Formats: sequence, structure tokens, C-alpha cells
Amino acid sequence: MPRSPLRGRSYVSVNDLSIDEFRLVLETAADVKRRQQQGEVSRRFEGKTLGLVFQKPSLRTRVSFEVAMNQEGGRGLYLSPAEVGLGEREAVDDVALVLSRYVDAIAARVFGHNLVVDLAKHASVPVINALSDWEHPCQALADLQTIRERKGRLAGLKLSFIGDGNNVAASLALACAKTGMHFDCASPAGYELPPALLDQCKCDAKKTGSVIRQVRDTKDAAKGCDAFYGDVWASMGQEREREKRLCDFKGYTIDRALLAIANPDALVLHCLPAHYGEEIQRDVTRIPESAIWDQAENRLHAQKALLLLLLGF
Ligand code: CP
Ligand code: NVA
Repeated sequence: MPRSPLRGRSYVSVNDLSIDEFRLVLETAADVKRRQQQGEVSRRFEGKTLGLVFQKPSLRTRVSFEVAMNQEGGRGLYLSPAEVGLGEREAVDDVALVLSRYVDAIAARVFGHNLVVDLAKHASVPVINALSDWEHPCQALADLQTIRERKGRLAGLKLSFIGDGNNVAASLALACAKTGMHFDCASPAGYELPPALLDQCKCDAKKTGSVIRQVRDTKDAAKGCDAFYGDVWASMGQEREREKRLCDFKGYTIDRALLAIANPDALVLHCLPAHYGEEIQRDVTRIPESAIWDQAENRLHAQKALLLLLLGF
């Protein structure tokens, strides 16, 4: 088998992958999942360690990375904010240089996106963005894997993100542009996707035919929608803005009324954790069209696939 074209690379942004490379990760993720479901066991990460440098809390990202490493015979080494003090106790480039002498890859969850950019710049091992204030590229991989499983394709479908034009929305917009999916982000004034991010989508969207739109009206986004997506109104690090955001986002809730406007069988997606009664009603997360638990599971398969490719398998 040819060596992975992603060997030694980092994944800081969805845009670190070309259209073909993004498809390769999705196909590998589907293969990884199929093999696991068939009971296949492999130990490709034997002797390998993934360093997990986290500045923020996590359930899914930490557990899925650690389990992915364990299942392939390797290990994840979790380093809490108090232990590393990224950019505070120790300079980011020093952390990157030191960790590169111990571990085979680094997954970093940070506040400022530049921290993970700098880690990748100075590390001699692959660095994966495990969420920054600008992107959540691992989440987007699992999300598109989930939509493809449920709908059998991606190109030509419309994904509608309702709420804050945040890190999760940003990675989804880039991922949709790579796969020919249409993407609407419906947000109140002042909470739109950054124009620079929309610009980053243009080149791929032109090639794949995907239409990426920032809209105001949730009904506009719901028309022709094949999958809804929700995320919290106040992300980690924005806790002090929570009260203001609760007012500003009124009406930007995924509920049955919004689903009624969409295409029949439109999926319901959420990266979790969810704030029920705010960005999404709990009842729509428990219907057959909800793919939320598949999304969470697919974090494991998508990240295992990503690690396999970055580590050269
Ligand atoms: N969706 C997601 O990244 O969840 P965690 O914050 O729990 O890792
Ligand atoms: N936008 C959210 C995603 C959590 C997985 C945050 O950054 O807190």
C-alpha cells in the first residue's frame, strides 16, 4: 500500500487539507469504522504516544483521542492547563520543541488559534487542532462522516447551521466548500461568520459548486435544508457574555417549527455539549432524524483515521 500523502503533516485548519485529501480522510474514517464493526483488531499505534495539551474542558475530544490511541495499541497522554501553562508557564515554541522529543503527535485545545498555529510551526511531529476559538476541524470531519452515512452522499445537500458563526460553524463552512455541500449560517447581527473565513471558502466552493451563505433569517436557512446544526450560543471563554447572548440569540433555536420548513427527513446535528431550550429543543434531539450520538461516536473513527494518515499509515 502507498504511504499516506499526509505523513508528518499537521491539521490545524480544515483548509490544511486539499479537496482530495479531505475526501481521503472521510473515506479512511468510514473504512476504520467498518473494520471495527467487523471486529477487526489492529495495533498500528503500538509504542506511539499522542500528547493532549488542553487549555479548556472536554468530554468527547479527549476521550475519543485517548480511546483511538488505546484501540490501536498506543496511548494518549493528557496534559491539563495547570500542568503545561501553554504560553504562560512556558513559551509555545519551547513546549513544541520539548514535546516533539517525547511524543509522536500532539493534539491541542486552545483559546487563541495562534497558539495551535505556533505549536504546529515549531513541532517536528504532527499537530492537530482539538478546538481553538477560530476552528474545530476534527468535529467537522466527524460531522461530514455522519451526514454521508445517513444520506449516502454529501455533494448537493444543504447543511444549515443556526446560531453563532463560531469555531464549529467556521470548520463546517470550509468542509462543506470542499465536499460540494451547500452551507447556510443563520446568525443574528454581530454574530456572523468572519468575512475572512467566508473568503477562505471561495476557492474550493468554486471548484465543487457549493454555495456558502451567511443569512439572517432562520426560515431562509431552513428552506431546502437536509441537515440542521446547533451549537451553544456562548462558547468556552465567552461565559461572561452569556446573559447578553441569551437575549441576542432569541429565535435562533432549532425546534419542530423550523424542522417543518426543511426537506422531509432533515437530520438534526449538534456537536455537544448542548444547552437545551436555548440553541436546540431537547425533543428534536431524540427523534429518528437526530444523528447526534452518531456524530459523537464518529469523533473516534474520524480522529483514528486522521492519526493513521498523519502518522504515515
Ligand atoms: N464536541 C466536542 O468537541 O465536545 P468536547 O468539548 O466535550 O470535547
Ligand atoms: N463552540 C463551542 C464548541 C464546543 C465543542 C465552544 O467552543 O465552546
